[in-house]
Formats: sequence, structure tokens, C-alpha cells
Amino acid sequence: MSRYWSSLVHDLTPYTPGEQPKIDQLIKLNTNENPYGPSPLVTRAIKRANSEALRKYPDPNASKLKSAIADYYSRFSITSSQVFVGNSSDEVLAHTFRGLLKKDKPLLFPDITYSFYPVYCGLFEIDYQTVALREDYSIGINDFTPDNGGIIFANPNAPTGLALTISQIESLAKIHPDSVIVVDEAYIDFAQGEIRTAIELVNQYSNVLVTQTLSKSRNLAGLRVGLAVGSAELIEGLERIKNSFHPYALDSLAIEGASAAFEDHSYFDECRNKVISTRERFLADLSKLGFESLESSTNFVFTSHPSHNAKTLFEGLRKKNIIVRYFDKPRLDQHLRISIGTDEEMTLCKQVLAELVKQ
Ligand SMILES: Cc1ncc(COP(=O)(O)O)c(C=O)c1O
Repeated sequence: MSRYWSSLVHDLTPYTPGEQPKIDQLIKLNTNENPYGPSPLVTRAIKRANSEALRKYPDPNASKLKSAIADYYSRFSITSSQVFVGNSSDEVLAHTFRGLLKKDKPLLFPDITYSFYPVYCGLFEIDYQTVALREDYSIGINDFTPDNGGIIFANPNAPTGLALTISQIESLAKIHPDSVIVVDEAYIDFAQGEIRTAIELVNQYSNVLVTQTLSKSRNLAGLRVGLAVGSAELIEGLERIKNSFHPYALDSLAIEGASAAFEDHSYFDECRNKVISTRERFLADLSKLGFESLESSTNFVFTSHPSHNAKTLFEGLRKKNIIVRYFDKPRLDQHLRISIGTDEEMTLCKQVLAELVKQ
């Protein structure tokens, strides 16, 4: 508390990021980072950009990156004018809340989802209403009935890992044509089969905005790059906010590195496939130990043990230098969210869990 603060600052409840402890030999499975380094094309591009040219401002439109993203999604006929980029998807979401979701009616989002959404509502003074997840932790599309000033959810959702299909998302977009429907796809690249990116909807539904990040499936949490794809109308709204706040949101190194990440298809596929197969193996191992886990379309698993307290397991893992995420909140406090690391890390995690559940 300070007499120098505005009343808004007094009332804020800021987001608490997962810890980034500086401990040697730590197995860090708490913030859903990718266990593999960035593509060699990315590090090369950043090294090249680390030059005398840094004396100049970067391209405020980040045109090179927008066209790399539009090219990557050319199968959905996306053009650069339908792409927005920002300094992390958190920043893209911030502009979205401020520019597209601040309305007279309340914003709707699930009661269990990315915990930054209520924080942005506090910061931007947006009225919101939460919609309870179903008993099985799924998002019930038919529960999003109240009149609203927008809808946002993570798909796949966090921390559950469960996902909606394209046709479920499409039905929401149809039912609420006057609301912006924001699909936060931070983890979509780890999904398979019926679960796909909602970018395929944006040319048909001008109210659908898809956000993504390079922090997870593109191994670049440290570079801070996020994006949104939607109708040119929605994107122009975001550009107006960005250019009234921070026109040079992406630095030159980020523009070059992120563009290279979208060009290296084979490295992307290789890492994503490794994470998916490690995840499936780890889920099978957990099941053998008696854990009950939700199906995961992400690079983490959400799991609980019927006869062991989640907080005790969390603390037991920590004593062995393995950090996972524990949420001390209703409906979450008997679960652990465990990010998928390398095969070796997950084997160690499984071994420690096996010792803990034997006790
Ligand atoms: C659902 C969801 N959305 C967005 C983000 C933010 O990603 P970043 O700010 O690293 O781009 C995260 C990060 O964990 C997330 O879980």
C-alpha cells in the first residue's frame, strides 16, 4: 500500500508466474516450457541480427514475421493483414482485452482456465462472469448462454489439458455473432486428431480471434513472441491499441528469430512429436502407479492420485529437485500439473512418484 498509488493499483491482484528458481540440477516441470532448445535456424538468425544494425529501430509492423506466419498458415488462405504480433501472447491478450473485450456486457470465461484472464479484467476494469467447467473438467459449450461482451477460453484449456473440437468452437461463433470469441491456443500444436487450430474458422467468422505463442511448441519462451490471427477488422483494432501503447513491441532479434522459427518446419515437427510421444509414455507410467489423469492435448499432464494428497506429492518431488505446479484452489488442489520434459526427466519424475506413492 502506498499513498502514491492510484486506486486502480491498490485494487489489483497481479498474476503470479510459475517460479524460475536458480537451483543446479533442477528438473523444471512447472511452467510448460519446451525441454528442447530453439531451432538452429533461429539461433543463427539471431546471431546475424546481433550486429551494427541494432542501432536502428526495428520495423514497427514486423512485416517479415507477419508474412512468415501468413505463409505458414497459407492452407487457410491467411494474409499478413490478418496477423497481429506482440511481445508474448500475454501482451497480445492484454491488447485483446483492452481493445476487443471491454464492453458494456460482461466477458465470459471458464471458472478454471488461464489465471491471467481475471487479472486483465482487473487491470482494464472489465466486468466478467465465469462459467463453471463440467464435472469432468470439460468446457460445456452450451453453458455459454448469458448475453455477453465477448468470450475467451484456452483451447486446449489450462491446467486441465482438455480441448474442444472445431465444430464446438464454430457453434459458439455462430450463436454469438456480435461477440468476439477469443481462442487462446498456447498449446494447440501438441494436440492431435480432431483437435485443430481454430484459424480455419477466421475467414468464415469475422468474430473469431485466435492467439498463439512461440513460448511452448516453438521452444522460445525467452524470446517473448506471441501472435493473433483473425479478420482484418479485428486485427486493425489490435494494431490501433498497440500503436497507441508500444509501436516497437518486437525488437529486431525477436523479429528475425521468430520468423526463422516459422520457416523451420522439420525441427518444429521433430520437437513436437518427441514431446507428444514422451507425454503418452508418461501418462501410461502414471496410470501404472495408480494416478488418474485427464487426456492431454498439451505439453503437460493434469493428474491426481486417489490415495495420496497432491500437496504432499508436490513437496516430495520438490525435495528431490523436481518442480511441478500445484494450485491451492477448489477443484484443483488434489491435482498436479506436470510439464513434459525430456524422456530422461520424465523417467526420473516417474521414479520419484513411484517412491512417494509406495509410502
Ligand atoms: C493458456 C496460456 N495462454 C497464454 C500464455 C502466455 O504465453 P506467453 O506469454 O509466454 O506467450 C500461457 C503461458 O503459460 C498459457 O498457459
